Amino acid sequence: MAEAADQLIHLDLGDPAFPTPSHIIDAACRALKAGLTHYTEGRGIRKFREAVAWSEGRLGLEVDPDSEVLATLGASMGIYLAFLACLGRGDEVVVPSPCWFVYPQSVKLAGGRCVYVNVGDEFRLAEAEEALKQAINRRTRMMVVNTPHNPTGAVLNVDDLRLVRDLALDHDLIVLSDEIYKHIIYDDASHICIAKMPGMRERTILVNSLSKTYAMAGWRIGYVIAPKQVIDAMERFQTFIAACPPAFVQAAAVEALRGSQRCVEELVRRCDQARKAALSLLGELERVRCPKPRGAFYLFPDLSGLGWESTSLTRALREKAGVSTMPGAMFGPGGEYHIRISYAAPVEQVREGVRRIVSFLKTHER
Ligand SMILES: Cc1ncc(COP(=O)(O)O)c(C=O)c1O
Repeated sequence: MAEAADQLIHLDLGDPAFPTPSHIIDAACRALKAGLTHYTEGRGIRKFREAVAWSEGRLGLEVDPDSEVLATLGASMGIYLAFLACLGRGDEVVVPSPCWFVYPQSVKLAGGRCVYVNVGDEFRLAEAEEALKQAINRRTRMMVVNTPHNPTGAVLNVDDLRLVRDLALDHDLIVLSDEIYKHIIYDDASHICIAKMPGMRERTILVNSLSKTYAMAGWRIGYVIAPKQVIDAMERFQTFIAACPPAFVQAAAVEALRGSQRCVEELVRRCDQARKAALSLLGELERVRCPKPRGAFYLFPDLSGLGWESTSLTRALREKAGVSTMPGAMFGPGGEYHIRISYAAPVEQVREGVRRIVSFLKTHER
């Protein structure tokens, strides 16, 4: 057991196990030497906001860098600010589940109430239309959409997003669109941005960050795109909480967004390689179902056929097999009897980690 723990393989955190590309690090060093060590405008330096508008513009979304962009301390801060700016005490937010575990906590901190709708592992919102409708009442103010999705790797299709749009328009909801994995997609999948759908621009808060795409999770830089009055409110909250993201980090982020995107292609290629290796190994477990992820970098296998409760299993895997994963129970209703495996790591590391999981499960059925 001590031996296994010594060489623990981490397939737990959603933090790519690759270095930040060197041209981005160089830009940060240049910015530090040039004296970008002070507070910036509350909504971020103009060059950063312009780079965001340019980068989103390439994906077909027209954005005004002066009024519609806010630089944030990662997507996490953008999400929290969105709830702070839009929710009154007791207002409800519909969150399709399983889901990233921070949304409910963030809603709660902002004084709101999270209403989960379990849509299952395939994460097809269109197939959960009735349940989603039933979750909406007169206190409902917002709905969260996360595509590509953490933890299942699902990429929402046009029917899923049309349903969200119809619900938002019928019930006057604001949609929080978390697009942090939008550049990490595989095969023939494509990302659809709900803000581009008719009637949605004015009721969408789009959140993104550089944490995943550019392996910059520790830099804490992200952004929000939203209508002017929402950005104004969010800026006020961020100013009181944290002033602004660091100036030299914003400068490095400009280089990331505007510079060569070869590093992103390379990240996706490496994740894809690891995804295929992990899926093929998991395929050896007959009683385990694992939908093929089409985006992000997580596998979320359903282990209910083996009878393991997720927290006991992740503990056993860590202590007895030397591999660290996340218990599905953390991801809300529909998450129990699953584990989340993060495969944003070198393929050999992922292969060895998943091999350990598979061999443990083959010999330790409940
Ligand atoms: C779906 C999703 N949104 C937002 C975040 C937060 O990212 P950050 O605050 O590092 O930008 C994460 C991180 O794991 C995530 O998985």
